Amino acid sequence: MYKIAVIPGDGTGPEVVREGLKVLEAAGKKYNFKYETKLFNFDGQRYLKTGKTLEDQDIEALKNYQAIYLGAIGHPDVKPGILETGILLKLRFSLDQYINLRPVKLYNAAFCPLKDKKPEDIDFVVVRENSEGLYKGMGEFKDKGTKDEVAIQISYNTRRGVERCIRYAFEYCRKRNRKKKLTLCGKTNVLTYAWDLWQRTFNEIAKEYTDITTDYAHVDAATMWFVKNPEWFDVIVTDNMFGDIITDLGAMVQGGMGIAAGGNINPQGISMFEPIGGSAPKYTGKNVINPLAAICAAGMMLENLGEKKAADMIENAVIKIVNEKLKSLAAGKMGYSTQEVGDLVVANL
Ligand code: IPM
Ligand code: MN
Repeated sequence: MYKIAVIPGDGTGPEVVREGLKVLEAAGKKYNFKYETKLFNFDGQRYLKTGKTLEDQDIEALKNYQAIYLGAIGHPDVKPGILETGILLKLRFSLDQYINLRPVKLYNAAFCPLKDKKPEDIDFVVVRENSEGLYKGMGEFKDKGTKDEVAIQISYNTRRGVERCIRYAFEYCRKRNRKKKLTLCGKTNVLTYAWDLWQRTFNEIAKEYTDITTDYAHVDAATMWFVKNPEWFDVIVTDNMFGDIITDLGAMVQGGMGIAAGGNINPQGISMFEPIGGSAPKYTGKNVINPLAAICAAGMMLENLGEKKAADMIENAVIKIVNEKLKSLAAGKMGYSTQEVGDLVVANL
């Protein structure tokens, strides 16, 4: 019996989570696994009512679950930064979900904005460090509000934090068993403290993985290659900030935010799975948002829980309907409503 905490969140989060849970239920019946879910209202709505983001007792409550399924965090009436740091980043940090795993896989060439790229050309995974770097929130203002103001934002990188992330990436690359190539994506030519540590750690750990080919790309060049030669990549490991940026580009080359899923992983603890697009307030309640990213996130959650077969079947159903049914992956243009897309996945399991 798996215990899953569900945080539908803001905007279109609840709509896409509903479809993900629908698919989960069908998969459970078909592949014989049992689970129970509990809903938690850690979102913008609750913040506006109570002023609470995420309290220590909320974190404690979540520790009774094996996985967290998240819709989206972000509310148009709340100033940017409050819910993001107060809920999403707090979840990632306090549950030590130190890996953000973001697969970039093209399911149908027709939905790729790049000319002449086929599904076999776009199939890589970004391993984003998820607990340190610029996201650590370290820094200060000096002389705030004056002409001499200085704002300092620190990228905090520990040997331990960098090493566990790089190690995870090597292991993941080996297990994935595709090109067996791991690319370190950084900025060694300018950020000479942080990326010196990353590069040294990477080179050291690489000696333990002689079956994996290693490569390095500066982050600016990597964005160029995502567009020009995405087929070069297999697994990419990078820091929190660069990982955030390049995975939005990754989402676009795989067909858009409607299909991009990710996992916030604590390999020894509770992981959290989410569609990587935001709460899309303008589409809220219209039954037009694409639920496939959330459905794929549910698939990733099942794989993480050990239900590999069910996870593969969900992915296959998604591939099938993306190739045979959907007119587009964009909200309002799919040729089907949010609920109908969920039904199509269930029907094709
Ligand atoms: C993401 C998002 C978050 C991030 C925001 C909402 C804080 O963009 O999951 O990529 O920057 O990590
Ligand atoms: Mn992002």
